[in-house]
Amino acid sequence: MKHLIDIKDLSVEEIDNLIEVAKDIIAKPENYSHKCDGKILATLFFEPSTRTRLSHESAMFSLGGQVLGFSEAASSSASKGETVSDTIRMVGCYSDIIAMRHPKEGAPLVASAKSTVPIINAGDGGHNHPTQTLTDLLTIKCEKGRLDNLTIGLCGDLKFGRTVHSLITAMSRYANIKFVLISPDELKLPEYVKRDVLEKNNIEYCETKDIEEHMEELDILYMTRVQKERFFNEEDYIRLKDYYILNKEKLKKAKKDLCVLHPLPRVNEISTNVDDDPRACYFKQANYGKYIRMALILKLLEVK
Ligand code: NCD
Repeated sequence: MKHLIDIKDLSVEEIDNLIEVAKDIIAKPENYSHKCDGKILATLFFEPSTRTRLSHESAMFSLGGQVLGFSEAASSSASKGETVSDTIRMVGCYSDIIAMRHPKEGAPLVASAKSTVPIINAGDGGHNHPTQTLTDLLTIKCEKGRLDNLTIGLCGDLKFGRTVHSLITAMSRYANIKFVLISPDELKLPEYVKRDVLEKNNIEYCETKDIEEHMEELDILYMTRVQKERFFNEEDYIRLKDYYILNKEKLKKAKKDLCVLHPLPRVNEISTNVDDDPRACYFKQANYGKYIRMALILKLLEVK
């Protein structure tokens, strides 16, 4: 049985195949509308979510399956002190596949050790977010036509931003990728990601505080929200939250075919006046998220 806990659980070939299936679903959704008849997806969200939970649920409904679950820890037995392992054992009796989000790094991995059904990590603390990365890869493939030969700027909270960690890990496996890491000193990419992913694979990267410094070189600009819920004190958050605000002015030097991405939710880091710029792809990106999750559910349930 296969789980998706870390993006590295999938080979590059498997990811490329998921992207092809997702594109086929987009082209011919009717061919997939009964693939999961009789199957049940459980969504266990111990942390808030809009897109990730609803796109998993919409994906399962669009495959003909059904959905159950909870959207906050307070409405589950976690609030009575039940362990993640025990909850997962139960939910495996009521469903065929589980998508879970948890504030503790590693919780989905612990869950997968006890689970009788496939587990999808829908975000674990400040660690990983592999299905957002699959969404990002499908978006990049569809919008840029390739996953290699790209200069990718990542901007904002690179320390706590789990989408950033998973995306860097995934993109580092494609040829000729360069990263521009844009953050204040306090929110730099963790050393373990630099060491175990970038340096280990000889990936070219630079770090800067200035969002405009490398703007004209970028093919992708991946904006992120400062992760308020992971801060230890309110003052630091208030000081850093508006460090970057992307606006039309800052995009002046950017390539005409730059692709601006954001996993969303956006707070202040992209001005709404960027939304009608043809380079703004973040709402399209949210739409792609449903189709790649349909492809993922089919793969993990081994539906042909
Ligand atoms: C992201 C997350 O939960 O990590 N959101 C998402 O899943 N689309 C990013 C964020 O919350 O800032």
